[in-house]
This record gives sequence, C-alpha cells and structure tokens, in this order.
Amino acid sequence: MDPATVHQLVKAIEAKDLSTAAHTWRVVLYSRAMLEAVRADQATIHAVTQGAALHDVGKIDIPSAILTKPGRLSPEEFAVIQQHPVTGYARMVAMDVEDQHILDLIRFHHERWDGLGYPYGLKDGEIPLVARYFAVIDAFDAMTSVRPYRHEVGEQAAAHALVELRNGAGTRYDPDAVRLFADLFERGSLTWILNYFNDGTPIPDFTPDESAVALIGP
Ligand SMILES: [Fe+2]
Repeated sequence: MDPATVHQLVKAIEAKDLSTAAHTWRVVLYSRAMLEAVRADQATIHAVTQGAALHDVGKIDIPSAILTKPGRLSPEEFAVIQQHPVTGYARMVAMDVEDQHILDLIRFHHERWDGLGYPYGLKDGEIPLVARYFAVIDAFDAMTSVRPYRHEVGEQAAAHALVELRNGAGTRYDPDAVRLFADLFERGSLTWILNYFNDGTPIPDFTPDESAVALIGP
C-alpha cells in the first residue's frame, strides 16, 4: 500500500480513539523486530508492518459512543466492537488492497488458538500465521501500556505480561509465537519498544515521510 494512504488511515484510527496512537506504533515495532528475528524478506516485513499499523482500521466504522464508553459494555455493544475485524477487512477490500498479509492480519487478529476468539472462531492452524503472531504482540502491548489503573509499569509490567502469555500458550495463543516473543524480550531486543511513547506524553504529529511511517518496511 502507498505509505501516504496508510498514514491517513492511521490518523483516522487515532482520531477515533486517542488511546491507540502510541499502541499503533509499538505494535508496528514489535512486528518488525519479530520478522527480522526470523529473517523474513523485505516484502513480507513491509506488508506485515503495514497490516500491524492498520490492524484496528475497522474501528473507524464503530460508533465513538461505544468505542470510548467508560465502564462496562452491554452484550450488544460488545457484539458491535467484535465486528471491527470484519469492517476493517471490508474497508481494505473496498480500497482494492490485495496483499494477503495485510488482509489476514486485519481480519483475524482477534482469533484465538483454542477457537474461542472472534469474529469467526477459527482455531490453531486455521488462523493465518501473521494473525497468530500478531495476537501475542497486541496482547503484550495491552498488558504493558501505561494506564491510570495500572500500578506496574515498564519491566515489571513486562515480566507479568510474559507470565500471562506463557500461561495462555496453547489456549489463547500459538505456543511458537509466545516462545519467539518471550525469547526476544528476555534477550533485551524489545525493551526499547516497551517504553516507546509509553509515558503518557502525546505522540508527535508525524507526516508520512517522517520516522513513524518510515518504520514500516523499506
Ligand atoms: Fe482489534
């Protein structure tokens, strides 16, 4: 996809739910680090990192009143949120995006290894590889993002998150994906990403040719 289009969509996602801005860039960085660790080729890195940046693009189509609602969601509201992989995929198809990595990541990033994910309930090998690996990244970042109610931050939150990932290996997550992520983290390769815009300061207003989009592929 053209980087300017990716940038525009990322801005639209961020405008919809401000808390996702820094999350977007961290998951792009984790994705790239994992792909480099397995020596993926540049074309794959380019596509998967674009997919990572756009994973929640379907949230553009979810009403803000539901997305940013404080407190507990009703079952009906949760069902609407659970449609974002479907609306995101449909949006990409409507834009003539054909790259399978991008489409798969957006469409299947909330599936679970044990089949209890959404929206399709696919399990283990039925879920495309990129989505299985991305699910681990997305969960780790959700568990280590600075939140008002969270007491643990930084490495302490990360240590806790790694325990959670390992507990979920084989149920929630692909065990191989957890192993790779945990190995990289424990070797120190991902620590800098953990703290990337994770101190509550607003993320800078990048333009398409600046660092944030330049992080995506060649
Ligand atoms: Fe999502």
